Amino acid sequence: MKAWLLKNFGLDNLVLGDTPAPKPQVGELLVKVGAVSLNFRDKAIVDGIYEPHMVPKPLIPVSDVAGTVVALGDGVNRFKIGDRVNSHLYSRWLDGEPGPNEPDYCFGSPLPGGLAEYMIIHEESAVRVPDNLSDEEASTLPIAALTAWYSLVDYGQIQAGQTVLVQGTGGVSIFAVQLATALGAKAIVTSSKDENLEAAKKLGAVAGVNYRTFPRWEEEVLRLTEGKGVDLLLDVAGGEGLNQSIAATKAAGRIAQIGFLTGQTTTLNLMPLIFRQTTIRGIAVAPRSSFDRMNAYLSQHAIRPVIDQIYSFEEARQAYQHLARGAFGKVVIKVS
Ligand SMILES: NC(=O)c1ccc[n+]([C@@H]2O[C@H](COP(=O)([O-])OP(=O)(O)OC[C@H]3O[C@@H](n4cnc5c(N)ncnc54)[C@H](OP(=O)(O)O)[C@@H]3O)[C@@H](O)[C@H]2O)c1
Repeated sequence: MKAWLLKNFGLDNLVLGDTPAPKPQVGELLVKVGAVSLNFRDKAIVDGIYEPHMVPKPLIPVSDVAGTVVALGDGVNRFKIGDRVNSHLYSRWLDGEPGPNEPDYCFGSPLPGGLAEYMIIHEESAVRVPDNLSDEEASTLPIAALTAWYSLVDYGQIQAGQTVLVQGTGGVSIFAVQLATALGAKAIVTSSKDENLEAAKKLGAVAGVNYRTFPRWEEEVLRLTEGKGVDLLLDVAGGEGLNQSIAATKAAGRIAQIGFLTGQTTTLNLMPLIFRQTTIRGIAVAPRSSFDRMNAYLSQHAIRPVIDQIYSFEEARQAYQHLARGAFGKVVIKVS
């Protein structure tokens, strides 16, 4: 089959080639890939800054796939040939609390990903694609939408009328605006671009703060919340900004620590954290059960993913470059 292979770190070492098509073993589905979407994780893996010791070479990259089941291993009974399925990043985390070694079973490193004509997904980790979504749309769900959903609903227990801050206008954050709005919460967005703030407001955000114009964006957030701070903050930026996130969150509020766009380490000021009694929870997407619940909600509320651009299979590298420049919502690659 045709596949993009990461032979070494660096986008120049991502090459289109031929590799044997996989055969489904007991309990596995062979999926003809329809589309994949890119997440910051995929770019960080290519750049060699995401757990580089875990990246096999060559690697078929990209975790998030929507496609059609074309062959079944023995014993499969959750799906049949012709069903449309999504991959689920933490392929063995099905429900409840995560086990100690979930990252060992993630698609797109260390397990083969979906930037290829075919991919193997175990039937237990596959998720049924909502009927009303195309493969291109559905490919955006496994990490970006599910992380936003889990942070808002399973962890954040967000209630109608509460306030959520989302950082930037990339994949996770735009889904968070859409979901928070549908759940009746008020989303405040930060962005480096005024036009993206306006576009986020069209999706339901109640206010926007340009974090370039206002480097002390947490003060603007306090102003917008009558000095109180938001109930829940989805931190995708990471780095030293975590101290600003604590300041922007209400006393006894919650932070979902999702990302590391500005850095994987931070110097935490403990006294504000202690005085504000903030809960900070690391987020690693979600179990599959949460994905199933989210898909039902997306269908019920007719929420459609926001796709900035769709690239062809041959244009995969341009898609990575687009993500690196910054996208509004998701960047997708159509595979077949
Ligand atoms: N732990 C998990 O389960 C999980 C799941 C998904 C993602 N993540 C992580 O979350 C982060 C975002 O992922 P993604 O896939 O949504 O990325 P993405 O689609 O590439 O979005 C990146 C956007 O973040 C914004 N941004 C950059 N620096 C910022 C800063 N200092 N403050 C606020 N916003 C900033 C920019 O928005 P503007 O252009 O509007 O400024 C940029 O376009 C990454 O670190 C990723 O690895 C983690």
